[in-house]
Amino acid sequence: MEAIDIIRERAGAEPVRFGLILGSGLGHLSAAVEGVAIDYADLPGFPETGVSGHNPKLVVGLLEGQRVAVLGGRAHYYEHGDPAVMRPALETLKALGAEALLLTNAAGSFRPDIPPGDLMLIRDHLNFSGRNPLIGEPTDARFVNMVDAYDPMLRAALMRAAGDEGIALEDGVYAWYSGPSFETPAEIRALRILGADAVGMSTVPEVILARFLGIKAAAISTITNMAAGMSDEKISHEHTKAMAPLGAAKLERILRAFLRACPPP
Ligand code: HPA
Repeated sequence: MEAIDIIRERAGAEPVRFGLILGSGLGHLSAAVEGVAIDYADLPGFPETGVSGHNPKLVVGLLEGQRVAVLGGRAHYYEHGDPAVMRPALETLKALGAEALLLTNAAGSFRPDIPPGDLMLIRDHLNFSGRNPLIGEPTDARFVNMVDAYDPMLRAALMRAAGDEGIALEDGVYAWYSGPSFETPAEIRALRILGADAVGMSTVPEVILARFLGIKAAAISTITNMAAGMSDEKISHEHTKAMAPLGAAKLERILRAFLRACPPP
């Protein structure tokens, strides 16, 4: 059986409106959904993710009255070297009917006005990894247009939701660095000159895939640290996991307000 059939059998066949992908330290947000949880291990094509701080389950159900499919964790390029590792999962979201994908991640900030504990709405990205999940895709559909890849209407709606909740939300450019090592201070200086506002190890390949599949995308970073060389704080995965919950509470409020404000389908 394919993933889509297993999901429909266990969680019902009604279409899903939004897909959500939760980043490091944010996986517990899936508990907010009233619905059915399915282990990735039961879903053919879903990633094996060994990254701690992720919760490798798909939860399909209702959040603020909207039918959503929440991926409690993602696989990253740095785990197995495959930038298209999330493609089967995103294809499944598309088959479930998802119109839009809301992505979250943990990131290091370059901007003192977006300190750890704050959130950043991604306006655009820099693919600093040189990798692309569509390499090897044989059809002309691979020539994906990336203007407004972070959907302007979704961005505006998320900004409004943050405003309604009284939560500060700046927007900025996210640079994808392959990881898993963190960046050097010299790399961070280079990325700042190139126009990045934050750096992280995910999201960009998923946005390229979403665009390819015709799913609108928006993304919010939880800032867990100032980028390498910008503060005395020691950057580590432990630190990322410890800091992510600070932003996660705000993120949950923004996502809930966003979903509440969405007109019925
Ligand atoms: N760099 C890359 N990825 C990250 C960082 C960082 O500083 N913080 C959280 N994820």
